[in-house]
Amino acid sequence: MSAQVLSGVEIAAEIKAEVAVKVGRLTEACGAPGLTVILLGSDPASEVYVRNKVRSCVELGIRSTLLTPPGSTTEAELLGMIDGLNRDTAVDGILVQLPLPKHIDTRRVLEAVTPEKDVDGFHPVNVGRLQIGQPALAPCTPAGILEILKRRGIPIAGADCVMVGRSDIVGKPASTMLLNEGATVSVCHKGTRDLAGYTRRAEILVVAVGVPGLITAEMVRPGAVLIDVGINRLDTVEQVKRFFPGDVARVAAFEKRGYVLMGDFDSRAYQVSSAYTPVPGGVGALTIAMLMQNTVKAAAARRGMAL
Ligand code: GUN
Repeated sequence: MSAQVLSGVEIAAEIKAEVAVKVGRLTEACGAPGLTVILLGSDPASEVYVRNKVRSCVELGIRSTLLTPPGSTTEAELLGMIDGLNRDTAVDGILVQLPLPKHIDTRRVLEAVTPEKDVDGFHPVNVGRLQIGQPALAPCTPAGILEILKRRGIPIAGADCVMVGRSDIVGKPASTMLLNEGATVSVCHKGTRDLAGYTRRAEILVVAVGVPGLITAEMVRPGAVLIDVGINRLDTVEQVKRFFPGDVARVAAFEKRGYVLMGDFDSRAYQVSSAYTPVPGGVGALTIAMLMQNTVKAAAARRGMAL
């Protein structure tokens, strides 16, 4: 039987439709929810991400404000801006786009955002609340992973889950969220001895490392559910041919665009699975939908409304 493709694009559309309804209710009761994004300096990749975030706000009826202070802005000035937004009752969510320039202490900035408006879920208070299973604003990528599993009926409670990657943004919170749902979770990383020994046990295998093709078919338990968080750019035709042998369409796509995206799973691993998230169009497609959901959640909580 061929593996089911878990489309993040489809699930994002479902979530956005639900968020739009909630935005409508909030707007009617007490005005549209508002998200303020701070993009400091001019990083081309960040500019694309931020543009997409703002576009989604417009689509769903969320008021979005984009602040673009120059790259020379000092840490004190940025902290001052955040302080103003924390106090501004018209602002429900604050997002400081990362990475920040080197002269700014990222941790200090993330901790300056009041936890109630921390729609990225990066503030230690939200990290702690998530850890002890209290209501929290959860980081968007791990929240998206949970949505995929739940909305596609994949049982989490009691499942053997392996998380490869231990970042603060994905690996740690995703493993916490799976644990909170009753899974048995192993967290692996670059220093793990016998990685394959762990991955071969997994009924749900989540990988967020950023190494193309790290997980091969031999490392996957037949019938496992694969969640691929990696988004890697292949820049040479040799790489494309190595990871996609005999795939003429993929080589043609490379020749047209100059690159091909792939995840942390080798494409042959997908064939062993029962279901997998594609790259692109999988986990990454959900991140912005989850940001919109967090903004609505923050707005409802601040206004004491149940949605
Ligand atoms: N830069 C890349 N991804 C993210 C994200 O999820 N949040 C923020 N704030 N910056 C990012």
